[in-house]
Amino acid sequence: MKRPSANEIDRAVERILQLQGVRERPRGMPPQTGLLYQPVPFPGFEQLGAERNSSEDRYRFLRRKVDYRDARVLDLGCANGFFLFRLAQDGVLSHGRGLDHFKGNIATNALLADLHGLSDVLEFEHASIDSDAIQRRLQDDSWDVCHLLSVHHHLVRDVGFEETRELIRRLYEGVGTLVLEQGSLTQAEYEEWTGRDEPFATHAISRLTSMLEACGIPEERCFIVGMGRYLSGARDDREGAGRILVGCSRRPRTDTIRRILRKRHRNGIYMEIVETGDGEIWKTVVAGASLAAREVRGLETLADAPGFPRLLAPHEAGADLGCGLVRMRAMTLREVTPEDAERFGDDLRRQLLERVFALAEHRLLHNEVNSLHLLLDVDPPAAEGSAKPGRLTLLDLETAYWLDEARDGWRAEVFEPNPALGVGAYDRDLHESDDWFLADLLGADRVLGEWGLPPITDDERARYLELLGMIDV
Ligand SMILES: C[S@@+](CC[C@H](N)C(=O)[O-])C[C@H]1O[C@@H](n2cnc3c(N)ncnc32)[C@H](O)[C@@H]1O
Repeated sequence: MKRPSANEIDRAVERILQLQGVRERPRGMPPQTGLLYQPVPFPGFEQLGAERNSSEDRYRFLRRKVDYRDARVLDLGCANGFFLFRLAQDGVLSHGRGLDHFKGNIATNALLADLHGLSDVLEFEHASIDSDAIQRRLQDDSWDVCHLLSVHHHLVRDVGFEETRELIRRLYEGVGTLVLEQGSLTQAEYEEWTGRDEPFATHAISRLTSMLEACGIPEERCFIVGMGRYLSGARDDREGAGRILVGCSRRPRTDTIRRILRKRHRNGIYMEIVETGDGEIWKTVVAGASLAAREVRGLETLADAPGFPRLLAPHEAGADLGCGLVRMRAMTLREVTPEDAERFGDDLRRQLLERVFALAEHRLLHNEVNSLHLLLDVDPPAAEGSAKPGRLTLLDLETAYWLDEARDGWRAEVFEPNPALGVGAYDRDLHESDDWFLADLLGADRVLGEWGLPPITDDERARYLELLGMIDV
């Protein structure tokens, strides 16, 4: 790669500002004149403002999940060429072609490629994405990887639903791996695309896989890449809405989606739990209040305690977003049956107490200790006649409360907006009383009752309160 001189960089910046400065900016480019969509990833160009400053995070996710080694990469709607430039900088691809319908982008990218000696590896083409254009490119060349990142919502508005679905199907069939990033479709567009009557969200995995399914791409051919973020405007994307990235390929992979549970709660919360072949679970709230950040913090706190889900790189999963996505190790879970309680009563009782004691040791209240959240992880399955039932696992820390946090803050964030709290294991009234800190102990006692096991003893209660640092009032 060539290193341009300071003079060359200055001249290039000036020219890019001219090229991006035209008033007529086509669909998909930020309307603000002069604003790039992506940053320019070469030294010296940091001053150029870009709409999606989280592009480097997206690049990291792509590199983790997509094999670009010696790949021929087609980037449809490449904007400012960010991904192709990064791949060329890292020396992984063999050839890249970017296509965009904004002339200003193509000229900007060609200039940058030339300046850095990358014109042999990268080419940029001014063209509109439609079936004919795609058909020709798939016939003329073979492509290992194709990007269609945050583009298909523009296509439905340019060429319509049928053609966009057909185009995506052709890409899936014609390239090695196709990677898509969700775009900001409207609710009506999502319904028209999929025929499904359910809330749409840009960070939901299932919504993108349903759209792909409508293009003829089975869910089990899809794999999760990560969650890109997008605030819009020259503000920090790290605060912004999540946009899920999903890949699909006809080639066999071990990390494709195994199943998706779409959950709809009575209180208007829509959740999804996605299990992949490589032993991961991705959990997100599609619509309704998400307390993913609280859950992630709780699971981080309990990382060394047995019997809680294990997080996988939470910071990469976007859990710090309002629309959080939590990535966990997969477990094989099932409910405790009356037969388990009869055969393994002592062991289950001991495990249950260990879980609530572990919470208390970390000065943490789970607040929803009930038999729906206490499941047996039976992987590997307990052998016939085994003396152990499996590991009792306490799930879902979205409503957790730390004793060192302001109770008013927890009430405002968790208790008041969450009508689910208190359904099942304990009474919502408890949280209005002075005994709120007994929620987990009372929950555990109720579960023991359900399982027909001896209740919490006075000694256990005293030990629990001591760990929690509270005294009985
Ligand atoms: C929202 S941006 C996404 C850019 C890039 N893929 C990314 O994710 O960073 C959409 C890009 O697609 C281009 N675009 C939108 N509709 C297009 C079409 N019908 N044909 C070609 N390019 C299009 C826009 O000019 C813009 O660069």
